[in-house]
Amino acid sequence: MAITLLGNSPAGMCPSSEAGIGDGIHVRENQTVLPAGRHGVPFDFADPALATAVSAGLAKVEDLLRTVVLSDLQFATETSRYLVDAGGKRFRPLFTLLAAQFGDPDTEHVITAAAAVELIHLATLYHDDVMDEATMRRGAVSANARWDNTIAILTGDFLFARASKLVADLGTEAGHIMASTFSQLVTGQMRETTGPSEGQDPVTHYLTVVNEKTGSLIATAGRFGTMFSGASPEQVDALTAYGNAIGTAFQISDDVIDIVSPAGESGKTPGTDLREGVRTLPMLYALAERDPREARLRELLAGALSDDALVDEALDLLRGSAGLERARRILEDYAGSARSALEVLPDCAARAALVSLSEYVVARTY
Ligand code: FPP
Ligand code: MG
Repeated sequence: MAITLLGNSPAGMCPSSEAGIGDGIHVRENQTVLPAGRHGVPFDFADPALATAVSAGLAKVEDLLRTVVLSDLQFATETSRYLVDAGGKRFRPLFTLLAAQFGDPDTEHVITAAAAVELIHLATLYHDDVMDEATMRRGAVSANARWDNTIAILTGDFLFARASKLVADLGTEAGHIMASTFSQLVTGQMRETTGPSEGQDPVTHYLTVVNEKTGSLIATAGRFGTMFSGASPEQVDALTAYGNAIGTAFQISDDVIDIVSPAGESGKTPGTDLREGVRTLPMLYALAERDPREARLRELLAGALSDDALVDEALDLLRGSAGLERARRILEDYAGSARSALEVLPDCAARAALVSLSEYVVARTY
């Protein structure tokens, strides 16, 4: 995937967004701009100057991601670069760079912060695939399947260590923020694993989990982008709130995609949540339905599904279910909350791009 520019109606420059343009990358309308075709979020920047600045920043982040994982043990470099090279949307660094447009986006700390956040995300994916017993990630064989669980866990630890080094370069405050972000993220994963407590509403539990495990790090991506560009405290808060809401929406959209995506399209194996017994929002709503036409779906969702034919049957039924529709509405609500958080920001190209990003998070599920 790649960013495609549709630059014809700039909404106006953000406070310092003249900076960063002119690094030798010239972007024309409808030109694809990211360094490798497998990276990026396909959405409309609506402003060529912004797209040029962001894509130059992302190229720097890519370079840093590749150099920061170098080890004197060649095998550690190989296993660490494995997922870096597999591509990915680079949603988090993109967001950091967009958030930085509200101050001076050209500070070195902005690039360091964007790479640190992406590296932490990558570390969690190595571990997550072990826990999920996943076989595919980003269209490639997952690291746990390519090597084994031990190598995948150690690689995740190694990336986390290298990310911590980058965060240390950002100073003590960043260290504190990342430490609490990471404990929130792991708590979310733990909460998902242990399930709702006695009598707890499963939807409330689910929304807490997705906010912690995904919203927390994406919020920090926005917070770091604004903080290190020197944006105002009000703007830091706005981008943090936007990140929380868009991150939660992003995880809901991922959970919808696990159901609706045809095999091979998302780069992961559809139905992983069903096989792992993870009850995502569409499933929770389907279970709460009373419609007798969906009785078979409820029966399937009641137990663990390991049989491929049963997983396929449940996926088919979920795709046409009222639960899926209801989950989509909640996704739209979160995307709308993210947009509301932008109201305090100046009306400029980066703000318009953040609006597009919130629309992309919904559109990717169709
Ligand atoms: C993706 O969820 C998982 C997360 C966002 C967080 C997982 C966190 C950990 C495994 C802790 C990692 C700890 C260290 C020390 C690195 P998902 O399974 O719903 O997403 P997917 O569809 O992309 O697999
Ligand atoms: Mg997973």
